Amino acid sequence: MRIFQPDMLAGQCALVTGGTRGIGKATALMLAEAGADVAVIGRSSGEETVKAIGALGRKAKFYSCNVSDYGTVEAVVKEVVADFGKIDILVNNAGITKDMLLVQMEEADFDAVIDVNLKGCFHFMRHVSRQMMRKKYGRIINISSVAGLMGNGGQVNYAASKAGIIGMTKSAAKELAGRGITVNAVAPGLVETDMTKDLEDSGLLQNVPAGRMGRPEEISSLVTYLASPDAAYITGEVIRIDGGLAM
Ligand SMILES: NC(=O)c1ccc[n+]([C@@H]2O[C@H](COP(=O)([O-])OP(=O)(O)OC[C@H]3O[C@@H](n4cnc5c(N)ncnc54)[C@H](O)[C@@H]3O)[C@@H](O)[C@H]2O)c1
Repeated sequence: MRIFQPDMLAGQCALVTGGTRGIGKATALMLAEAGADVAVIGRSSGEETVKAIGALGRKAKFYSCNVSDYGTVEAVVKEVVADFGKIDILVNNAGITKDMLLVQMEEADFDAVIDVNLKGCFHFMRHVSRQMMRKKYGRIINISSVAGLMGNGGQVNYAASKAGIIGMTKSAAKELAGRGITVNAVAPGLVETDMTKDLEDSGLLQNVPAGRMGRPEEISSLVTYLASPDAAYITGEVIRIDGGLAM
């Protein structure tokens, strides 16, 4: 059972990056369940997500896009607005890891993670916020991580990108609040997805007071709330969902 009404986001268009699997796919589906049409952005095929959204009676389309490419993102945002008429909700979820100890980390692996996680988020905020400003409404939710709050050995690149998202979120929130646009960050802990499939037996769970990994839908619930008109007075916030990991 969901806490939201099925028509809570009726008539709205959401754009979800990395919506082909994991947290992004669960979020795209939940936003559709709440009534939104969804533009699904990703590198791999998003047909499964699009089909599932269609089955919920909502419009959906997949756009193949590397979020780290400024020009491609600009073109894709134009295409989405042409197809859906507008973008009300932006979820910056696409992300990668390239873990390595600091002393062994290659510059290319540092840059790749910053380019996708941090710059990808900037690219979409940059191009989507303009049309949100024109209609004086918008909801932007950026997926950070507890690694951006407390650091994590082997992840200087990833933690830097996720901490960067927090600074960017707060700055954009200050710039856009007067235009009816909220900008918030969600910081998940360990969530069961392809990204963490090798970590399940790593002993990391010992640090999680809840004693289990999170489910993608548990992240999507908060994102869906932050995407709703009800969340109008929450902006510049960073909310952990981590079973107590970073408390
Ligand atoms: N799983 C976790 O434990 C966890 C914890 C904290 C934060 N996060 C964050 O949540 C987000 C989703 O992670 P997930 O666990 O679902 O990962 P995932 O690997 O299952 O999915 C990542 C998604 O991002 C897309 N993507 C990757 N690079 C891209 C690019 N260059 N352009 C476009 N799309 C790209 C992939 O196609 C995929 O759809 C990420 O930002 C991740 O950093 C995850």
